[in-house]
Amino acid sequence: MKQVIRKNWAEPYRIKTVELLHMKTEAQRKKAIREAGYNTFLLKSEDVYIDLLTDSGTSAMSDRQWAGMMLGDEAYAGSRNFYHLEEVVRSTYGYKYLVPTHQGRGAENILSKILIKKGDIVPGNMYFTTTRLHQELAGGRFEDIIVKEAHDPNSEFPFKGNVDLDKLESLIKKHGAKKIAYVCIATSVNMAGGQPISMSNLKALRAMTKKHGIRIIHDMTRVAENAYFIQQREKGYAKKTIAEIVREICDLTDGATMSAKKDALVNIGGFLAVNDWDVFEEARNMVVVYEGLHTYGGLAGRDMEAMAIGIGESVNDDHIHARVGQVLYLGEQMLNYGIPIVKPIGGHGIFVDAKAFLPHIPQELFPAQTLAAEVYAESGVRTMERGVVSAGRKANGENYMPKLELVRFTIPRRVYTQAHMDVIAESTALVLDRRQKIKGMKMVYEPKYLRFFQARFERI
Ligand code: F0G
Repeated sequence: MKQVIRKNWAEPYRIKTVELLHMKTEAQRKKAIREAGYNTFLLKSEDVYIDLLTDSGTSAMSDRQWAGMMLGDEAYAGSRNFYHLEEVVRSTYGYKYLVPTHQGRGAENILSKILIKKGDIVPGNMYFTTTRLHQELAGGRFEDIIVKEAHDPNSEFPFKGNVDLDKLESLIKKHGAKKIAYVCIATSVNMAGGQPISMSNLKALRAMTKKHGIRIIHDMTRVAENAYFIQQREKGYAKKTIAEIVREICDLTDGATMSAKKDALVNIGGFLAVNDWDVFEEARNMVVVYEGLHTYGGLAGRDMEAMAIGIGESVNDDHIHARVGQVLYLGEQMLNYGIPIVKPIGGHGIFVDAKAFLPHIPQELFPAQTLAAEVYAESGVRTMERGVVSAGRKANGENYMPKLELVRFTIPRRVYTQAHMDVIAESTALVLDRRQKIKGMKMVYEPKYLRFFQARFERI
C-alpha cells in the first residue's frame, strides 16, 4: 500500500555533488542565439544558464546508480547487467521479453519495421516526432485519435491523454481491423503538454482492441508520471502505489517502447519490451543490425545497470510526488504572473501557449520558435519549440499546422531547486512585459527529417 503523502513535499534526497553554473551577459546571449540561427537546439550548453530544453537524458543519477556504474560487466555477450535489467523490467512492468536499445527511437525503429506494412494505419493519442517519423518511414500513416480537449490549451479536462474511442471505431470501420498495424498509446502525452490517459479509458480501449484483435503498443517513456495523475485524480486509485498503478497500465498493453532517458533516470538508454514471442524473435534478430547484440543493444553494461536501478527509483511514491510537485510549483508561479500556459499543468514541464503569449504573430511566422529565442536572450533559460516547426511536413510536402503552438519548459529530474523555478517564472514574465515589441521569424534552412533539431531562422 501507498505511504501517506505529505501535503507539502520536499525533495526526498540531499545533494552530494554540485555542478557550477555560469550566466553569460546579455550581449553574449544575444550573439549566441543569433549565431545559433535562433534555434535553441543549436546553442552551446556552455552559453546556457538554466537548461530546460528537455527532460531527456538530463536527470541527476543517485549515488546508488553511480555505484551501479562501477558494476558494469562489459562483456560483449551475456553481460550480467542485461539479466538484471531484464529481471527489473519483468518485475516492474510485467513485459515478458526485453530488447535493449541505445534510446527510445532505436526501439521505435525496430518495432515499426516489424509491425507496420506499407499502407497501414497507426492510430495514436497524439503524435510524437520520432515515433511518427519511424511509422511513416516503415510505410504507415499516423492517425490522431486523442480526445479533442487535448488540442485546447485552456481545457481543464483531467485526462487530456485519453483516446476518443469513437474516432478509433470509425477508423476500424473505414479501413478494417487488418489495416490497423497497432494502436500506439503514450502515457503522459508529451506533445499535449505531459497530459495523462486515465485507467478507465485504457481499459475501454483494451476491450475494443481485443474484440478486433488489434495490439496496443505503449510508449512508456513517462509512465510513472502518468501513474501519479491517476493516483491523484482517478476514482479508486488514491490508495494504490505508483508501482501498482504502473504495473496495471502495462498489463493492459501488449508491448512497449521506452526512452529510459526520462522516467528511468538515466542519461542514455531505452528498450523494446513485448509479450509476443514472435515479435520478440524478430526484434532480437533485427537489433543486431541496427543497435548491437541483443544483450546490450547499443549500451554499455554500466548503462544497463544504472537503468535497472533507476527504474526502481522511478516508481517510488516520494520521488514522483516531489518530481511532479516541482513542475506544478513552476506552473503556479507562471499563472501568478499571468503567463498563458497549457492547463492542467502536466507532468514533465510547463508548456507556454505561444499563440496567446504573442497573439500578433501568425503561426506562419513561428511564434513558439520566436518566444523560445526571446526567453533565452532574456535570461539564459533554454526551452524548446513544440509547434509548427516540430510538427514538420506531411508526405505531400505541406506543413502540418498543429493547433498547439507551444514552448516547452521541461524540468530535468532531481537537478534544479525551487529558487531556480522562481528565476524561470520571473524571467518569462519579463518577456511578457515587452511582448508587443517582439516580431516573428522566417526559416532560412530546413533539414528533411525532424527539422526542429537543426533548422535555422532569421528575424523579420
Ligand atoms: N517517445 C516520447 C514520448 C518521447 O518524449 C521521446 C523523446 C521519444 C519517444 C524518443 O526517445 O529521445 O530516447 O530516442 N523525447 C525527447 C524530448 C527527445 O525532449 O521530449 P529518445
